[in-house]
Formats: sequence, structure tokens, C-alpha cells
Amino acid sequence: KEVTIISAPFSAGQRNGGVEKGPKYLLKHGLKEDLEALGWKVSLEEPLKGSGLDLPPSETSQEIFEAGNSRMRNPTIVGQATEKIFETVKSVAHKKVFPLTIGGDHAIGMSTLAGFLDAYPDACVLWIDAHADINTPDTSPSGNLHGFPVSFAMGLKRDLWHKQFDWLDNAKTKLLANRIAYIGLRDVDAGEKVILRDLGIAAYSMYHVDKYGIAKVVEMALSKINPSGKSPVHISYDVDALDPLFTPATGTPVRGGLTFREGMYIVEAVAETGNLAALDIVECNPDLAISNVHEFDTIAAGCAIAKSALGETLV
Ligand code: ARG
Ligand code: MN
Ligand code: MN
Ligand code: MN
Repeated sequence: KEVTIISAPFSAGQRNGGVEKGPKYLLKHGLKEDLEALGWKVSLEEPLKGSGLDLPPSETSQEIFEAGNSRMRNPTIVGQATEKIFETVKSVAHKKVFPLTIGGDHAIGMSTLAGFLDAYPDACVLWIDAHADINTPDTSPSGNLHGFPVSFAMGLKRDLWHKQFDWLDNAKTKLLANRIAYIGLRDVDAGEKVILRDLGIAAYSMYHVDKYGIAKVVEMALSKINPSGKSPVHISYDVDALDPLFTPATGTPVRGGLTFREGMYIVEAVAETGNLAALDIVECNPDLAISNVHEFDTIAAGCAIAKSALGETLV
């Protein structure tokens, strides 16, 4: 039982300062000690340390890369940072150590998916989020790269990428459409809906959670992406999947989200299968908290998700 916490204090995938402080706050809340108390040997990796890639948007020059009718913001910084995080996740996963990557914004999802799939080509992914994060340069309404990581891990619209993402070509395994399922969606861009439909990706929105209940949704999602029940599962958890009542300090909150218990149930149920082998916790932004209670609730939720994913049970 060995886990490496990969700290990814990174915010250039979107435009709010503060999300780069997420790892520090999660660690200050006791994440490492909590996992040790569960019996894990815990180490810490900081791939961005000393690189200058961990600065808030206000302290970096803003870049816009346009090609035809496509657009992305800050590709140089995002490309450099995500490559470093990819190398770390990949080496941790190859050692058969559990990679727990803490963000930072969700752009780092391209690193964690590519890095984990490099070591486990048969892996499958549960993307827990209000958003699908599967925009391509020609569908993104914002150009913010935290809305792209799934499309990058799949290699969609490769010809529209900035050269700083060439590192993804060296990742051994591309994410396939039948190896990812979403839970919690409620703010999906028009172009993303087309991609989800065209590729037949399993997407459980809040409508499905209401209709079937969270237990059934998790069961349906896992049976779609992991029919054999034998593949390792990677959960990429954007805290904005939860209703803003529970995780208010996040950059793109959308009301009508998962309750705290529904959100916890997902990781508890996957942990129970014994297949969970990688986890990301992203988009905690303490600077967006309008009170100490908001800050505490958001950070505590991130830590609670990690603990339950790594085996804490209620009784
Ligand atoms: N779909 C929107 C965009 O691409 C929002 C993405 C939000 N992503 C996130 N990781 N919170 O700009
Ligand atoms: Mn989101
Ligand atoms: Mn939107
Ligand atoms: Mn996200």
C-alpha cells in the first residue's frame, strides 16, 4: 500500500488566480497524515517546483494561440507544466505506486490520464465533473485549457494543437472512447455534446443521477467502461461535480450538482471493487471562498474524497 501525492499547483489552464494554492491547502488540512493513518506509505512529488510554472495568471504574460477558427490560451505554459506532471505520474504508475494528483486546474487531467495509461494500457476512467472537459481547439468557447484534457488524452483534432503538446505523442496509450464514463455533467458546451454523441461516450448527467440514483449510475458506468471488472480504474475528480453548496470555492461552479453523499458514494463504491488505482482531485480554489466556512468546506471535501477513495469506510 504505497501512494505518491503529486502536487500540481497550477492555474494557467483557466483565468482565476488561486487554484494553484489547492495542493498547499489540501496538505495543510492533513491529507498526508490522514492517508498514513489509513495504513498507506505516503510520499510527495512536486514536478513543478522551481520551474516558475506554478504562478497565478496575474503574474504571467497571457498568450493566445489561434489557428483558423480555433483558439487556446497559454499553450506554452500549460504544455510545459503538463509534460512535467505527465512524466511524474508515468514514473509513479510504472512503479505500481498509487498516483494521487492534487491540483491545480483540470488541465493536468491530460497528464494524469496519459501517464496512468502509459503504465496500464487497459485502464478505464471515471471523470467526475459538472463539465465534460472534452473541448477541442475549434469547439472551446473560452480557449481555457482546463476544458480540453479529455480530448487531448484521446488525441482528437491533433492537427489543431500547439507544438507544446507534442509530448502527448510519446504517451504509449491513447484514451479510447469506450474506456471513459462521466458522472455529474450539467454544463456541457454545444460542440462537446456533438463529440460525446459521435463517439458514443458514456455520459451520466445530473438527470441520470436523479432518474436512477447514484448507486445505479456508478454500476452502469463501470459496466460500460470495465465490462470484465478487471481493469484498473482512474478517477479524475473535479470538485465542481459536487453542488456549490458543498464545494463553493471553485472556478466554474454550476448549481444542481451532486450532494456530498452522492459524491462520496462514487469513490466509496469504486474503492470497494478493489480496482481503483489512480485519483486526481482538482479545481479547489481557496481564493474564491467568500468566507472561512467556504474555504474549509471545499478543502475538507477534497480531503474526504481522497480518504474514502483510498479505503476509509464509515463503519
Ligand atoms: N466547458 C467550459 C470551457 O471549456 C468550462 C470548462 C470547465 N472545466 C473545469 N475543469 N472546471 O471553458
Ligand atoms: Mn468542472
Ligand atoms: Mn458553459
Ligand atoms: Mn473539470
